[in-house]
Amino acid sequence: MPHFISIADHSTEELIHLLDVAGRLKKQLKETGRNDPILAGKTLAMVFEKPSLRTRVSFAVAMTQLGGYGLLLRQEEVGLGSREPVEDVARILSGMCDGIMARTFEHEKVTGLARWASVPVINGLTDYSHPCQAMADLMTLQEHFGNLDGRTLAFIGDGNNVARSLATACGKLGVKFILSSPAGYELPEEDVDRIMALLPAMDFELVRDPIEAVRGADAIYTDTWVSMGQEAEKARRVKDFAGYHIDERLMAAAPKHAVVLHCLPAYRGLEISAEVMEGPQSLIFPEAENRLHFQKGLLAVLMGGMK
Ligand code: CP
Ligand code: NVA
Repeated sequence: MPHFISIADHSTEELIHLLDVAGRLKKQLKETGRNDPILAGKTLAMVFEKPSLRTRVSFAVAMTQLGGYGLLLRQEEVGLGSREPVEDVARILSGMCDGIMARTFEHEKVTGLARWASVPVINGLTDYSHPCQAMADLMTLQEHFGNLDGRTLAFIGDGNNVARSLATACGKLGVKFILSSPAGYELPEEDVDRIMALLPAMDFELVRDPIEAVRGADAIYTDTWVSMGQEAEKARRVKDFAGYHIDERLMAAAPKHAVVLHCLPAYRGLEISAEVMEGPQSLIFPEAENRLHFQKGLLAVLMGGMK
């Protein structure tokens, strides 16, 4: 497993191994207050073209807890693809650091880094996908339900980067994925076709009506309607997503045991109500904490060779 760019690149066994290592490191931290310094002396370069709270903090803290260091590099200083070509940045960072995590607009910048780097490259979110988020989400569901296979996740909202990674991760780990988006905001047909070609046995449904979509769901998921880079479309999107809110009316249609997830940041009153976010079915904050634990498992495997 040289890089972690797309869920689709990894086998079910590899993904289960990452969840297992993440779970063991989480348990060790909770029980003993520390982790073994398996990345002592190692540095992860963290390149950010976009803002971040969870991704930045979780990778930095994960490196600290494993005895290494997370070096923050902002786009203003690095100029990935503008001040310097991606292939040069990849080789410079490979010469000095032991891993690269990048959050970019264009997905091709992250795949370009991976092509030229001689150290592991991790996708910290692109316009196309957010694989670390999807794995932390499934880790949260596995902890809560005790298993994943046969569960159903209903994603209500934009067919975006988060939905794309989550759909693939669900397919790899035996979770039925239901996507409910307003017209014009579905996952592009070529993505659905690609996921189905990769995972022909996957249970993947597109359901226009959000109330119908949540009827059999174990987990209900949403993300912002306005992703980073789409700020100019906000007014139109807020109008177009009317009716796709996770609120008490929608929750009343879902099974009582259903839990609610959101990758955050959330816009209360738009894609999710404050009541649901703070309510008893919300796993949103444990989900955010699991970004740290999953990241740590990923770094331990990619940079520390942990079995
Ligand atoms: N969910 C997530 O990736 O959060 P940040 O944008 O704060 O990193
Ligand atoms: N879809 C959102 C996710 C934020 C973590 C975005 O790309 O901005």
